[in-house]
Amino acid sequence: MSDRRGFAHRGRRFKLVGALGVLAAACLALAACGGSSSSSSSGGGASTGAVKVTGAKVIDPNSLNNPPKGTVKFCQGQDTTGIGKDLVKSFTAKYGAQGYKATLTQFPASADQQRTQFIQRQQAKSDDCDVFSSDVIWTAEFSTQKWLYDHTPYVNKFKSKYIAAPLQTVHYAGKYWGVPETSDAAFLYYRTDKVKNPPTTWQQVYQQAGQQGGLVYQGDAYEGLTCDYLELAFAAGGQVLNADGTKSAINSPANVKALELMVNGIKDGAAPKSVITYQEPQTDQAWTSGRYDFMRNWTYAYAADNKAPSKVIGKYAVAPLPAFQGGGKAGILGGHNSVISVYTKNPGLALKFSDFYASPAFQKKALLKYSQAAIIPGVYSDPAVKKAVPYASELLQALSQAKARPVSPVYPQISQAIYKNVNDALAGRTSPQDALKKADSQINSALSTF
Ligand code: GLC
Repeated sequence: MSDRRGFAHRGRRFKLVGALGVLAAACLALAACGGSSSSSSSGGGASTGAVKVTGAKVIDPNSLNNPPKGTVKFCQGQDTTGIGKDLVKSFTAKYGAQGYKATLTQFPASADQQRTQFIQRQQAKSDDCDVFSSDVIWTAEFSTQKWLYDHTPYVNKFKSKYIAAPLQTVHYAGKYWGVPETSDAAFLYYRTDKVKNPPTTWQQVYQQAGQQGGLVYQGDAYEGLTCDYLELAFAAGGQVLNADGTKSAINSPANVKALELMVNGIKDGAAPKSVITYQEPQTDQAWTSGRYDFMRNWTYAYAADNKAPSKVIGKYAVAPLPAFQGGGKAGILGGHNSVISVYTKNPGLALKFSDFYASPAFQKKALLKYSQAAIIPGVYSDPAVKKAVPYASELLQALSQAKARPVSPVYPQISQAIYKNVNDALAGRTSPQDALKKADSQINSALSTF
């Protein structure tokens, strides 16, 4: 196999083992492995210092030890990789004899639709989801709505166990609202049989993709596009909000430049026009068809796209997202947290399940089998992991250059203003300038409602 960092290739183990050690150390010591919610690294975000969420139900950390017998209902987005099924099966296998079971409810693949599904259930005060796999961007909104158990006493007990950046995503208004599940960042996937060296700037990515092979990414009007666009915009030096999170900063020359590059990429054929309808599953379909040389996608795709009937098995490697020419490197911090609904009838069992997801054994499996970024550092220094993760140094880089999206109870409206207008520009329905002008006024309207 020609793949330098290929799936079966173990030749560079020494370097990679070192990288994993560095990752664990960096995560612990620098409180890094991703962005923080501070405005300087997040492209603008509401300061949460003065915000208060009062009257929430608080979880008892000891309730997980001997909860009433029963079934915990876990809800997450479409289980495209199989990790959700594995999780409920593993939990039931471990605790079934003691009378505890877990079931999985799958929501659509789109992050926006997952949010809508959860909101509908919470508004109906339903206990359909005892535990919900909540995207890192929803903590502020859901906690402000008083839909989540306050996990502060549980998290404080185990705080040193987690990597700082994913833990920060479950923190809002001075409290913790769940347990981290997985962290996330995107890679530039490239075909090792066609691309000699991965491009080092976004401009080169588009240039090379235009000459041969093409680039696929998530360009549909949904949360994924906000991420894909902000990766370039943040790298170009752009922001979403001003420093104190009170006003939009989306209509800037840096953000226009980033959008122009993406729009021209579609016009010139570097990316197929169909990307404007792609979410993650369609991106995987396009990539595994073997037609494209480059793909922007999250870490999960490393394992998921390397299985039959993929036509690119063993034919790709990953690079951290490149720099924007004239700017720097960036990425978006993704990931999910287990949150417990205030309408659950068995909070102790729900916590037992969240605790199981975050356990070293399941975190290790999530990284090895599903290429999901672990939220506890110990996994990265595990000998089996060190041996089996050929993309360790790239993962380290991707996580440490990732920045948080703005932290705000109205984040979904802010994001909608971004992805709808960016999608209009990608589709050629409006110019990059007009798209960001419109996004600017919509973001300011959203901020004025809070
Ligand atoms: C991934 C990320 C998540 C992001 C979503 C967008 O699931 O982990 O944070 O919002 O993709 O599609």
